[in-house]
Amino acid sequence: MAFDLDMIKRVYDRYNSRINAARQATGKSLTLTEKILYAHLSGGEASQTYQRGTDYVDFAPDRVAMQDATAQMALLQFMQAGRPQVAVPSTVHCDHLIQAKIGADTDLSTAKDINKEVYDFLSSVSDKYGIGFWKPGAGIIHQVVLENYAFPGGMMIGTDSHTPNAGGLGMIAIGVGGADACDVMAGLPWELKFPKLIGVHLTGKLSGWASAKDVILKVAGILTVKGGTGAIVEYFGEGARSLSATGKGTICNMGAEIGATTSIFGYDEKAEAYLRGTKRAEIADAANAIKEHLTGDEEVYANPSAYFDQVIEINLSELEPHVNGPFTPDLAWPISKFAAAVKENGWPERLEVGLIGSCTNSSYEDITRAASIAQQATDKNLKAQAEYTVTPGSELVRYTVERDGYLNTFEQIGGVVLANACGPCIGQWARHTDDPTRKNSIITSFNRNFAKRQDGNPNTHAFVASPEIVTAFAIAGDLTFNPLTDTLTNQNGEQVKFDEPMGIELPVKGFAVEDAGYQAPAEDGSTVEVIVDPNSSRLQLLDPFAPWEGTDITGLRLLIKAKGKCTTDHISMAGPWLKFRGHLDNISNNMLIGAINYFNNSPDSVKNELTGEYGPVPATQRDYKAHGIGTVVVGDENYGEGSSREHAAMEPRHLGVRAILVKSFARIHETNLKKQGMLGITFADTADYEKVQEDDVIDILGLTTFTPGKQLEVVLHHADGSTDSFPVNHTYNAQQIEWFKAGGALNIIRRQQA
Ligand code: F3S
Repeated sequence: MAFDLDMIKRVYDRYNSRINAARQATGKSLTLTEKILYAHLSGGEASQTYQRGTDYVDFAPDRVAMQDATAQMALLQFMQAGRPQVAVPSTVHCDHLIQAKIGADTDLSTAKDINKEVYDFLSSVSDKYGIGFWKPGAGIIHQVVLENYAFPGGMMIGTDSHTPNAGGLGMIAIGVGGADACDVMAGLPWELKFPKLIGVHLTGKLSGWASAKDVILKVAGILTVKGGTGAIVEYFGEGARSLSATGKGTICNMGAEIGATTSIFGYDEKAEAYLRGTKRAEIADAANAIKEHLTGDEEVYANPSAYFDQVIEINLSELEPHVNGPFTPDLAWPISKFAAAVKENGWPERLEVGLIGSCTNSSYEDITRAASIAQQATDKNLKAQAEYTVTPGSELVRYTVERDGYLNTFEQIGGVVLANACGPCIGQWARHTDDPTRKNSIITSFNRNFAKRQDGNPNTHAFVASPEIVTAFAIAGDLTFNPLTDTLTNQNGEQVKFDEPMGIELPVKGFAVEDAGYQAPAEDGSTVEVIVDPNSSRLQLLDPFAPWEGTDITGLRLLIKAKGKCTTDHISMAGPWLKFRGHLDNISNNMLIGAINYFNNSPDSVKNELTGEYGPVPATQRDYKAHGIGTVVVGDENYGEGSSREHAAMEPRHLGVRAILVKSFARIHETNLKKQGMLGITFADTADYEKVQEDDVIDILGLTTFTPGKQLEVVLHHADGSTDSFPVNHTYNAQQIEWFKAGGALNIIRRQQA
């Protein structure tokens, strides 16, 4: 599980010169975010300044982390690159596929059975290519990364939205799709739009019931779920320095809920203590040696509005505990106003379940604060009125808090300890309920709370709060209870009140673990065989896509002219299809089934010109493919918006679509198409969209002289014998044109490796 100290030292060695170059290029003092970004330019030292929110910049991240659901396609693709090893230190974490039903041991062993083929694949592919493998039960990706791999001033990408958790230790950590992870592991640069910067100035100090969670719950209320889009949030000030490293992790984790690219805190004594506490003193020593580069420049924090695009002030001494929700994390209620909001809005007052833990809130400090409330329930003769579950974030934390007696404290009030995994946070929760149609309330210390997230039930009103507030609510069983001011009736009929929670930042006896659940890769993986059952419905090895044939592409059919919004979810739906994420052919049966056909206003119903019949999009496309006929998908504005899901680009490529012609693309999807060797083009005049008819035969001309900035031409041969032709634009640069010609970016890397 060892972190890569040599790599970290290499990163730190270049800091001085790179930051000086960046100061010179920008002509100003630098925020911490800028320092880390400029220190990770893939082209070396900065020679120019970048326009925030505008310029796309290539970076060289230090690490990659992948969770089991997204790792499958990332690694299947990586195998295509032909490299003997990953280019940067990488890890896989088995956390998303474990269902919470009965309790840790039973649930874990069931998951190992059900997901055996996926785990066998991930374990063997990690072994072969030099990737650290964290087995099911080892913990949740972000907690394990914070405990083992995050380091101040580093840059990491991870195939999960809450990757920014590592910002708590001063790392720029960004959630990406599997295709990006694959690129970085294959040694390609990683492109990001240079972010805008939001500064959050924290003054004062937390006390009483207020916790780090309440900082981000308040920020979410201020910025809303969209307020951080395209921005990195940098926290600073004496208040920031007073927070524990894991508390900072919680804040950065939930930066995802405001849409932020990531969030970050500077290196300080709390970060140093956490590094030493998690047996990484060498990193703390190395960080101390370049300390001045691991926070923003003094002038920046003295005059933040001159350096940040937006500045928010929060006084921790005045911060109230918050409860956010339901259905959205930015509906922020200070605890003093929450009971009235529950009543006014008619939300179910009876609380049915309280859930603590997850990647967001399962540090030693979180567990001890929650346990201090649970202990009071026992001492004051209170019985928990709601169900109560505890999801430890890692085996390290679980083992340590068990050793220190805290799991026993939870069990005494009826708490059920679940596996160290995502479980209820990602809908992997077999919740026991007598009536799923009843409006009901739950409260969690997790991060997301949109409808159906935890239990798949649209009637569940999910609220988010700190673990100690969740625990107090679970004991009260009543959402109108305010643990700061109200009393409860105990089993002797007496009125009792909670004292303030007490937490311990780091275990006095140190962290301990018997088996952390880590599997180191083989020293030499060349003889390791990657295990994929050829009959598996969930996994399929990929074949390289065919290169371009070297001519214009003619005689194509229209597969679908999509009308209106066509997001990656319309192109490759989630939900039940998630289980096929590692099987390109099977998941391709969801291709474009959510898109609306312009000609009949229906989803998943397109005309098959070979039969004249209307049928599902994937089946129609498979018929064209069987007859050797290529097709075109036509779309509207911002085609492919939504997520970075690479399946949305791979499926059409796999099924034989030759070009995607739209009014405009969402940028990430456009790049994903290019990487897969697909032709993604846009109408030069968006009015030409109207010229595309259902029965057209389509030619794409100009490919033999395909050059950056030069338009291509589309010819439509209509069924009545007439034709229309018009220019189309593209944004391929010289490198991307090579990807197109080779049939995909990975084909080029494989060629280079050979
Ligand atoms: Fe897992 Fe939920 Fe975190 S799904 S990674 S515990 S946000």
